[in-house]
Amino acid sequence: MKTIILGAGGQLANALQEIMPEAIALTIDDLDISSRDAVMVYDWSGVGTVINAAAYTNVDGAETSEGRVTAWRANAQALSYLSQAANKHDFTLVHVSSEYVFDGTAKSPMDETTPFSPLSAYGASKAGGDLTVSLANKHYLVRTSWVVGKGNNFVRTMIGLGERGISPTVVSDQIGRLTFANTLAEGIQHLLTKNAPYGTYNLTNEGEPVSWAEVARSVFKARSFNELTVIDQTTADYFAGKPEAAKRPLYSVLSLNKIKATGFTPRNWRDDLTDYLTETPS
Ligand SMILES: NC(=O)c1ccc[n+]([C@@H]2O[C@H](COP(=O)([O-])OP(=O)(O)OC[C@H]3O[C@@H](n4cnc5c(N)ncnc54)[C@H](OP(=O)(O)O)[C@@H]3O)[C@@H](O)[C@H]2O)c1
Repeated sequence: MKTIILGAGGQLANALQEIMPEAIALTIDDLDISSRDAVMVYDWSGVGTVINAAAYTNVDGAETSEGRVTAWRANAQALSYLSQAANKHDFTLVHVSSEYVFDGTAKSPMDETTPFSPLSAYGASKAGGDLTVSLANKHYLVRTSWVVGKGNNFVRTMIGLGERGISPTVVSDQIGRLTFANTLAEGIQHLLTKNAPYGTYNLTNEGEPVSWAEVARSVFKARSFNELTVIDQTTADYFAGKPEAAKRPLYSVLSLNKIKATGFTPRNWRDDLTDYLTETPS
């Protein structure tokens, strides 16, 4: 049976393609998942698994009137089309979600039963997708945070600033764990190959939760930007005067107990960061 990866070109889709070279990877031009007609007429024959790595991920863009519509179409409505196709053609649907479906007021790692409380339009659209994918009889909902892969992400932004000799001001009160796209892809592959029970799984890297400022410092240290300083700032101060910016959760740590119980222990984010910085050219 064939495996299809949706959202080709994105960070997670790139990592999935590396470990599943036999899978068929579709870009938005091949299949726009927010088009009901496109999903319904697609030839799903012989497809056993669809991994949906496609999403509208522009968190601030989703706050605009146009972006909100695009976010809801790609992140929520699309899941009703994919879930219908999954049930009609009997394939397993893997969908990926975000800790932005929560408000970040938790004080300890959030498990898979944590109730929705999104702060932003992006978070709300992702929560809509989470609810809708449960319509698929055979589904995995994989919830993650702070993704770093081949593409635009925080670590690359920090590398770029350091190389330009800029000391960045970074929020120091948002706490979470990075998730490297290769580890996320391996965890998804594990769920599929081990036939783990269908349902929701948190999947991030392991390791000590830290702030974005601490992540930036780790990047600067590893890249020897020794003459530069990472300046701490609160989220409230960082976004003051930016009313168009989406609200961010302050606490993003997801409990990994359930995925670990299936036999998958994600690597420590610091080890994946070291590898990523080695592999990522200046
Ligand atoms: N990035 C993070 O920090 C983060 C954190 C938590 C959860 N997540 C979730 O993790 C998943 C993967 O994220 P990522 O960082 O790999 O995302 P990404 O790099 O932004 O890739 C998303 C891909 O989806 C494509 N896409 C957008 N709308 C589409 C549509 N209607 N039909 C088909 N393809 C479409 C995009 O194409 P274009 O580029 O052409 O638009 C892009 O190639 C997403 O579900 C995201 O919500 C991400």
